[in-house]
Amino acid sequence: MQSPTSVNKFTEIKQKSRFLSDNFIWSLCKVLAVSGILVYLVFLTASNNSICPDSNFFFKFSPSKAIYINDNSPTNVSHLVFGLVSSVKSWKPRKPYIDSWWRPNVTRGYLFLDRGNMDEFLPWPKTSPPLRISDDCSKLEKESKHVAPIMIRMVLAILETFREGDDGARWYIMGFDDSIFFVDNWVDVLNKYDHSKYYYIGAYSETVMSNMWYSFDQAFGGGGFALSYPLAAAIVKDLKGCIKRYPYVISHDTIVQYCVDELGVSLTVEKGVHQIDLLGDISGFLSSHPQSPLLSLHHLDFVQPIFPSKDSLQSTDHLMKAANVDQSRLLQQTVCYHKNRKWSISISWGYSVYIYDAILPRTQLKRPLETFNAWARDAQPPKYMFNVRGTCDYPPVVFFFESIENSSSGNQIVTTYLRSSPPAYNCSSKPSHSADHISKIQVFSPTTKFMEIQRSECGDIEKVGTNIVEVKLRRCRDDEIIG
Ligand SMILES: *[C@@H]1O[C@H](CO)[C@@H](O)[C@H](O)[C@H]1NC(C)=O
Ligand SMILES: *[C@@H]1O[C@H](CO)[C@@H](O)[C@H](O)[C@H]1NC(C)=O
Ligand SMILES: *[C@@H]1O[C@H](CO)[C@@H](O)[C@H](O)[C@H]1NC(C)=O
Ligand SMILES: *[C@@H]1O[C@H](CO)[C@@H](O)[C@H](O)[C@H]1NC(C)=O
Repeated sequence: MQSPTSVNKFTEIKQKSRFLSDNFIWSLCKVLAVSGILVYLVFLTASNNSICPDSNFFFKFSPSKAIYINDNSPTNVSHLVFGLVSSVKSWKPRKPYIDSWWRPNVTRGYLFLDRGNMDEFLPWPKTSPPLRISDDCSKLEKESKHVAPIMIRMVLAILETFREGDDGARWYIMGFDDSIFFVDNWVDVLNKYDHSKYYYIGAYSETVMSNMWYSFDQAFGGGGFALSYPLAAAIVKDLKGCIKRYPYVISHDTIVQYCVDELGVSLTVEKGVHQIDLLGDISGFLSSHPQSPLLSLHHLDFVQPIFPSKDSLQSTDHLMKAANVDQSRLLQQTVCYHKNRKWSISISWGYSVYIYDAILPRTQLKRPLETFNAWARDAQPPKYMFNVRGTCDYPPVVFFFESIENSSSGNQIVTTYLRSSPPAYNCSSKPSHSADHISKIQVFSPTTKFMEIQRSECGDIEKVGTNIVEVKLRRCRDDEIIG
């Protein structure tokens, strides 16, 4: 017979472990929620079927079916291979996001679905990335005793993409069905790096809390990340082993970082990659983009539509109108001043123009207006990985991108921005603004790509009419002070 003490002790231990496991699940949810990764759990676990690859398969595949030619020719779109993870549950609503940037017969890559009824998706459209079904990985899920088995399929997508053996592949870019990629910019940015070396390129989250919970040194998967061919080849050799070594790592992008770190490689940050762990109206963020080419946007169906009076999809397609003409300038911020009227004008090319009723230093205008929230609404400052400004400190008059065309002379591109209605911000005192009568902005930019990332362009205000302002973008002169 057990003594009361030992019974008590047993109960206590049981309660404690129950508490621990409840607590663990709670922490897991909380942690995942911090970065929107919970969203993927919800989508990707929706199917009843096992969602992981058949582990037998991996060990038979030979890593180099692809012909890898180490030449020094410039990197172009055919050297990039995209691995996009989706699910039967999420594909239908997300397909239009991929269609917005995918170029049939130009971009290379694959879209991975889990198992489930996909009758309604067939025949698979030629305009979408080629369909692949993730292998069954239930065995690996069991063997690894992974705390978040759902994450295994996402990690293994690297291997499944690589083993397709695309000839001449230099870079594998991994993302989700709601990662919007700006392909021309990826080509230009990756061209700066030596694809014959080991590279892991992406970005951390915008919110401090996500990085604190996961890692300041990992690429967040929704924004996407690129692995150079040699690094991808090295990782897939023992990807299953790597997954098994870290059964306690709860998110797929952190597992990838563990695997990359095992090879002695660290993250190379590209500031144009955006996980968008933000909520609400992200227009302030997109209007003060880091001085770096825009590479990706994510979570566009979680934030408010980025253009007023358009839905999320229409907004994405609308941004693509500018992206399809000149990605090199997309969201690049140019600041210029009208000294007599005391206006500061901040242009986010292809997206917005803000006119301020004061001369504000470029340093301040580079800080996003805090029109948004952190993904975790209860986050305390410091919330973001960048400085922000209060929306009511100097409320600007706001214009959003409307259209793009060639100038009549044909040697410039004209983007037109219209006054936003209703106004984007609600400030208690709403003084009249000396630019209130302006309803339209036209920005003239060169037809040549903007490749000089070390320095922004400069803008000349060419005309202020009764309701229109025209600005011409140009290369800044040597020593020119923007002020
Ligand atoms: C990309 O570059 C390769 C040489 O590395 C060339 O053979 C190929 O035609 C180029 N493709 C495109 C689409 O420019
Ligand atoms: C892609 O190329 C193939 C073969 O050249 C062609 O049959 C197909 O129609 C093309 N698809 C699209 C969407 O252009
Ligand atoms: C603008 O000009 C470029 C060539 O300079 C041409 O390819 C493009 O189709 C033109 N766009 C429009 C809208 O006319
Ligand atoms: C702005 O204020 C009005 C009236 O107080 C309110 O109805 C509206 O919801 C506010 N808009 C925003 C974006 O906060």
